[in-house]
Amino acid sequence: MSRFWNEKTKSIVPYVAGEQPKPGQKVIKLNTNENPYPASPKVREAIESVEIAKLARYPETSSMIVREELAKVLGVKPQQVFCGNGSDEVLAFSFQAFFEQGEDKKPLLTPDISYSFYPVYADLYNIPIKKIPLKDDFSIDVEAFCREEQGGVAFANPNAPTSLLLGLDDVEKILKANPNHVVLVDEAYAAFSGQTARTLLPKYKNLLVTGTLSKSHSLAGIRLGFAVGDEELIEGLCRIRDSFNSYPVDCIAQAVAAMAVHEDAWVNENVRKICSTRDRIATMLQTRGWKVLPSKTNFLFASPVSRSAESVYTKLREKGILVRYFNKPRISEYLRISIGTDEEMDALVEAIDAINEGK
Ligand SMILES: Cc1ncc(COP(=O)(O)O)c(C=O)c1O
Repeated sequence: MSRFWNEKTKSIVPYVAGEQPKPGQKVIKLNTNENPYPASPKVREAIESVEIAKLARYPETSSMIVREELAKVLGVKPQQVFCGNGSDEVLAFSFQAFFEQGEDKKPLLTPDISYSFYPVYADLYNIPIKKIPLKDDFSIDVEAFCREEQGGVAFANPNAPTSLLLGLDDVEKILKANPNHVVLVDEAYAAFSGQTARTLLPKYKNLLVTGTLSKSHSLAGIRLGFAVGDEELIEGLCRIRDSFNSYPVDCIAQAVAAMAVHEDAWVNENVRKICSTRDRIATMLQTRGWKVLPSKTNFLFASPVSRSAESVYTKLREKGILVRYFNKPRISEYLRISIGTDEEMDALVEAIDAINEGK
């Protein structure tokens, strides 16, 4: 604590990202839901296409080349697409643009268990939030989001860390029940679920869907996230961006992203492999007595049942395998395990067996 920090800096509880290994440290990294497979080989060409002389200039402010290419792929207008430095930034801008700030304002509704950055942004921007408990089976309580319109809604779909998907009928119920406020659907993992709420965009002006190239496109390192919605919502995001940082997406990221959004065959094959590994490992864990939620993402949310999740997390870490453990109410007996390659996941199951044998 420094005497130079203002009250906000003193009081905030920052988001804690999954542990990053030290340079040279050899680990099996299953703790930040990255894609275990490399991005399309065309990424190299895209990077090499960037003229070094161009790096002397600021990038184009709105990432227009990416917006145009994404618009083609998503079947919307470029004016309906916003790009930012990772979807984390797009989410932060959305919170600032659409949810009211001040204790006297109506709260933003969000599930009690969802992406842990939401309460952090809400606190940072003084947005009151009301956490709606997930049901006992960890599914989103749709009726509770529809009871009374408040200051907006934000949730991840599929949800994280639970890995569960909410069907489009239910998403639509929430949109209908909150017609005067933005319903933000964070689709960071949508590619692994085979469903997207973007199909509802023509019907709902209050819908904002965020996405990212970090997971499905194996590009967490370039930090390219996006939002798709009505032109008015996108204009609101541009107003926030231009009040914060005029150039959030660098030239190289723009060139890579504009190419990568067209790499369907490459992306779909990696997504297919990840889903198949996910289902295989889910069954293996279940056979070992674990409780595994039916995942529609590139990670499993699973409870070892017979021993504490924290002890398994610690033992795996000692064996050089990083998974994510949240010491939080209701989920402290679960681990979030990102899907790696088949070899990495087999090593995980082997390590779990060794732990069970007391090794
Ligand atoms: C639900 C959810 N939303 C957004 C993000 C952020 O992704 P990005 O890499 O685009 O910032 C994550 C990252 O793990 C996530 O789990």
